[in-house]
Amino acid sequence: MSGTNATNPNSMHEFDAELTNQVFEYMRERLSMPDVPLDFPGDTKVLAEVLSGLIKPEGNPSADVLKLYDEVISRAVVSGDSPRFMAFIPTAPTKAALLFDMIVSCASLQGISWLEAAGSISAENQVLRWMADLSGLPESAGGTFVSGGSAANLAALTVARDSGRQRVHNGKRLPVRIALSQQAHSSIGNSLGILDIEPLIVQTSGYAMTKADLERALAAVDPSEPPVVGVVATAGTTNAGIIDDLAGISEVAREHGMWFHVDAAYGGAGLLAPSVRSQFAGIENADSITMDPHKWWFSPFDVAAILYRNPKLAASVHTQDASYLDVLHEDDSLINPTDLAYHLTRRARGLPLWFSVVVNGTDAYRDAVEASISLTNEVAEYIKADENLELVIEPSLSVVLWRRIGWNAKDYRDLQDRLIESQTAFVTPTSWQGETVGRFAFVHPGTTMDMVKEVFANI
Ligand SMILES: Cc1ncc(COP(=O)(O)O)c(C=O)c1O
Repeated sequence: MSGTNATNPNSMHEFDAELTNQVFEYMRERLSMPDVPLDFPGDTKVLAEVLSGLIKPEGNPSADVLKLYDEVISRAVVSGDSPRFMAFIPTAPTKAALLFDMIVSCASLQGISWLEAAGSISAENQVLRWMADLSGLPESAGGTFVSGGSAANLAALTVARDSGRQRVHNGKRLPVRIALSQQAHSSIGNSLGILDIEPLIVQTSGYAMTKADLERALAAVDPSEPPVVGVVATAGTTNAGIIDDLAGISEVAREHGMWFHVDAAYGGAGLLAPSVRSQFAGIENADSITMDPHKWWFSPFDVAAILYRNPKLAASVHTQDASYLDVLHEDDSLINPTDLAYHLTRRARGLPLWFSVVVNGTDAYRDAVEASISLTNEVAEYIKADENLELVIEPSLSVVLWRRIGWNAKDYRDLQDRLIESQTAFVTPTSWQGETVGRFAFVHPGTTMDMVKEVFANI
């Protein structure tokens, strides 16, 4: 293909065998790689030069543009799905999920409303039900898939705020507060800012928020201040993988009539792993749960599940009101995915997970999650046995915080540069109680102990 024929307005939409073969060939090659290359963060100046002038009236030959993508653009993106990506929270989509994502794109598959998309919504709901069952939520629970954990948290906290206002202020737009600990993800603080909710920061006596921590914070609340209508617990903190005392916090929430939101964006996949499942006790009492399939449930970006105990309540908060949309709400026995978060149009982004779970089976999911947990334990033992290394805390889920004795912040930053330069790994430092330390987050079942040893060989 080379540009388009300006005299035929449909030319861009006609089947092009050559273009199709070029793209399919690229995808086949990528999918067949045992491990995708890690690649590099990229040089913005070089990229700007290469991209300059590409958008022009007559277009460009597709083979040239694909070559440019392959050789320059794609190499300037660190591959989050490489087993050597151990920073932030990586991703590790299955082949089935990646392939089905292409089908979703190819078919422009949407999952907005029952009127238009019963097929995709039924399948998405099947996998949401699986996640709800793993959490122990009742049959009445339901939800939808949004773009990420941040969007899911915002959707849930909007419902928490409005149902809290309903309870304590008769629905009036008066101030309310939501409790959280300092370990809550940054998206929780951002959501509260967007929603104009004051946070009540719960001081924790240990690393996780406990029942006693929350009780102490609530007991100190001045009754003249805005009422606390909800609490956010984290099931797998991003920095350290720590799970709050969900059972204890849920008891306090119930006692005070507060909304109980669990941010399990990263850690939720631990529900699949018998070795850690007991740490999630109490999640079944949640009013809402965030879980990100693009983290540890082996789906490609971008997808997060938001589950509500009472989806009707969520729909009453999020449904958009417009005359052209009235037709979507004729049957009020069915809740549209579009009515469960801040969005209207949405692609059926839950389907790659659905396809992959249905094809691979839930045992394969369990085993893949357990693989990262056992690697975490193995790495912890390795660190304990090395006199130059120390564990910062006992690891939780699949995050390891470690210290190289005698190192300062610059040493960890230099290590990051060395490792990416040599394509050994992508490992970024973090800070823990004011100190810069090393951090690994594992979600890829293909990450091996040998790869981690290669990192330590560089210190
Ligand atoms: C606990 C937690 N919540 C929320 C988020 C935000 O998720 P996303 O990046 O998908 O918006 C993250 C991301 O790492 C997370 O770990």
